[in-house]
Amino acid sequence: MSSEPPISNSTNGVAVPAAKCGLHVVIAGAGIAGLTAAIYLRKQGHRCTLLEKSHLAKETGAAVHLAPNSNGVLRRIGIYAEKQGANPMESPWLLTHRVHLHEELKRRAMAPEDEGPPAVLRTSCPVVDVDPESGIVTLESGEMITGDVILGADGAHSKSRAKLPGGNLQTKPSGKSAFRFLVPRRAALDDPVTAKFAQRNGELIIWFSTDRRVVMYPCSNNTQLNFVCVHPREETEAESKQDNWNSGTNKAKLLEVYCDLDPALRALLDKVDSSSIRVWELLDMDKLPTWVNGRLALLGDAAHPFLPHQGQGAGCAMEDAVSLAVVLSRGTPASDVPERLRLYESFRYERAHKIQYFSRVSGRDVEEPGAAIDMTEYSQYNFGHDEWDNSTNLFRKWQWARNPNVFWRMPISFGPMPGPRQTHGGVVRDGLNSTFTNASIKFKTSRTLLQNLFPTESFSFKGPGTIAYASFSQTTLNKMHWLGGGGYRHIGLYIHGVQYTKKNGEVVDGTFLPLLFESLTDPIVSGREELGMPKLYCSVDIYQRSSCYKVQCGWEGSKFATMSLEGLKPDDPASDQGTIGGESDDGIFAYRYIPCVGERGKADVEHTTFIEHAQEAKNTPQKVLSVQRATNSSVKFDALDWEALPTLHHIISRVAEIPIYEIVSAKVVSGLGVSDVSSARRID
Ligand SMILES: Cc1cc2nc3c(=O)[nH]c(=O)nc-3n(C[C@H](O)[C@H](O)[C@H](O)COP(=O)(O)OP(=O)(O)OC[C@H]3O[C@@H](n4cnc5c(N)ncnc54)[C@H](O)[C@@H]3O)c2cc1C
Ligand SMILES: *[C@@H]1O[C@H](CO)[C@@H](O)[C@H](O)[C@H]1NC(C)=O
Ligand SMILES: *[C@@H]1O[C@H](CO)[C@@H](O)[C@H](O)[C@H]1NC(C)=O
Ligand SMILES: *[C@@H]1O[C@H](CO)[C@@H](O)[C@H](O)[C@H]1NC(C)=O
Ligand SMILES: *[C@@H]1O[C@H](CO)[C@@H](O)[C@H](O)[C@H]1NC(C)=O
Ligand SMILES: *[C@@H]1O[C@H](CO)[C@@H](O)[C@H](O)[C@H]1NC(C)=O
Repeated sequence: MSSEPPISNSTNGVAVPAAKCGLHVVIAGAGIAGLTAAIYLRKQGHRCTLLEKSHLAKETGAAVHLAPNSNGVLRRIGIYAEKQGANPMESPWLLTHRVHLHEELKRRAMAPEDEGPPAVLRTSCPVVDVDPESGIVTLESGEMITGDVILGADGAHSKSRAKLPGGNLQTKPSGKSAFRFLVPRRAALDDPVTAKFAQRNGELIIWFSTDRRVVMYPCSNNTQLNFVCVHPREETEAESKQDNWNSGTNKAKLLEVYCDLDPALRALLDKVDSSSIRVWELLDMDKLPTWVNGRLALLGDAAHPFLPHQGQGAGCAMEDAVSLAVVLSRGTPASDVPERLRLYESFRYERAHKIQYFSRVSGRDVEEPGAAIDMTEYSQYNFGHDEWDNSTNLFRKWQWARNPNVFWRMPISFGPMPGPRQTHGGVVRDGLNSTFTNASIKFKTSRTLLQNLFPTESFSFKGPGTIAYASFSQTTLNKMHWLGGGGYRHIGLYIHGVQYTKKNGEVVDGTFLPLLFESLTDPIVSGREELGMPKLYCSVDIYQRSSCYKVQCGWEGSKFATMSLEGLKPDDPASDQGTIGGESDDGIFAYRYIPCVGERGKADVEHTTFIEHAQEAKNTPQKVLSVQRATNSSVKFDALDWEALPTLHHIISRVAEIPIYEIVSAKVVSGLGVSDVSSARRID
């Protein structure tokens, strides 16, 4: 037996106000739909009150088919119908006694030991009115009960249906009625004439005649044979009028209706206890235009009464219940209920009506037009479905689509990617309490050499001359929310005094970042994909003491750079301007290049990006807490070779060529507030 699949309470990271005591869900009708809804909803933390018209003393019914789509719903809540004597037909299909199923659902809805608040069941409490706007349910006694949600699970003759726009629909005759009863299998086996019908466990047999049929299958662990005998309604009209499907009728009538059948089969029918025979009219109903209105939603037979020919009425009722529990996820605020119920309808409407239609078609008489149907197609549609998983997926997609400002990144199968700029649910992060330590060395160098690193001719140096300014800047970040409170290090080459001339002639001043190394995968991926920054991995080790700060960079054991700031002396924190190298330009340029899959040398996208200092400072104000200036500093690169740096040698050998004519400043700056770089924008 497979283990019970978990019910996840995850709200997918979406911030929802914690509704500590859950929603109050008032359920009219404690049938299969109402009870299943209560079981699933209590697991989501909601409080359910079930209001049932009858005493629930004598639940009626015979066998109920539990096809895989229904069984899945039950197994997920730990109900294994085979433990209540349900017997396998063609495995994994089960036939259970409706009373056993109902009993077990009732027990589980109220069981104190189960997860979530136990449902309250009030029997002999007919609901006479519901108000979809206020959530008030009125009982026959005049008592009023208010819910955040009202579920109309009051069956085929639903009262709450009338409260829907276009809900004045009633069930209508389908033209057929059906006898329903059980015959002990032993009785069939003991008679040589009928023994042939009861030989095999779990076998369903249907006998067709022009306008009537007999369906037989075993239940109660193969000890009972369950019969459904479908025939024209006129022939038992008087009997069925008494009280729908509980009306008693007698054996003589049954044998009269099936007088043309094979005598052996009639002998089998003759074994029934006359007083146990029930006949009920098979009712159908047109499609309701909607199942929901305000705080009211219909489910099960109330929303879509079925003909029994596909044995899917109970299954669909349970699927509705499950879907409702998915959309009313834990923590759903009462104000969201109407919207969530509309979502439920959108998840369920098509499927329920398709199965309703299949059930109608498969009940047609053999010679009726349209009776020839592809049963395999129907069966696959009906059974190959797990409503919990289906609704959960649709619900997730709805949650994601509600937030158009989230970043999607590979892999996309799991929803928006959490990162520096958002949680999984799209909540914007706040880096105010994160810490930074920047160690930077700004120097004079060869302008021509740096110019060779510009990716396009739109980049140039602002001023004339042969000297340019650049910085190596290493930053250590910590207390980053998006990294679970941890951090990482990065080190980059920044070329100052650069301008970018846009296609429209406009000129932007900034610092060009041709290369940024980081010590952790997550920021590398998000920075490359979301910001278009030229990020690569290397290890960044820090040796920090009171008067010295040293950085060592390496790749898989090959050390290729050291940066050293010595003789550190504290300076006034107000003396630092807070941009890389203390530049008074407008921001940082990077160049984004995404290769095309399958076409070498071609880019899918290629453009300049710009991160504006003013916007960044506005998004996340930085607070400098300490500044230390170095008296002796140096940067050294070792280009090594292709063997030592198989993926980086072409980069490090170029960086190593950069001459340091003179160090202009060397400092270590620490403080609070780490920007999420969300102001990065594409230029051109
Ligand atoms: C004889 C028979 C055989 C069936 N066999 C199968 C089968 O093999 N497979 C299958 O999948 N389905 C079968 N079905 C269908 C299946 O039983 C129903 O589709 C399923 O029970 C629907 O569940 P429900 O909760 O919506 O309605 P119901 O089970 O009918 O429950 C409705 C409940 O609401 C209560 N109620 C009604 N009005 C009010 C009110 N005003 N206030 C309070 N309570 C109210 C009723 O007393 C009842 O308890 C069969 C149905 C019948 C009648
Ligand atoms: C079903 O019947 C078999 C054999 O007849 C028996 O071993 C088994 O315990 C029964 N199961 C239930 C659930 O009654
Ligand atoms: C979910 O169910 C709907 C019908 O209700 C169907 O169209 C869709 O394909 C299903 N999705 C999956 C993943 O099964
Ligand atoms: C940041 O720190 C302050 C002061 O310690 C605290 O009140 C605030 O809640 C913190 N903010 C976040 C987002 O953690
Ligand atoms: C520290 O470095 C980061 C990242 O390079 C930069 O965004 C920030 O402006 C710097 N802050 C200071 C105060 O130098
Ligand atoms: C500067 O540091 C280097 C090593 O980093 C050292 O060799 C040199 O002696 C130092 N110079 C001074 C003046 O401290």
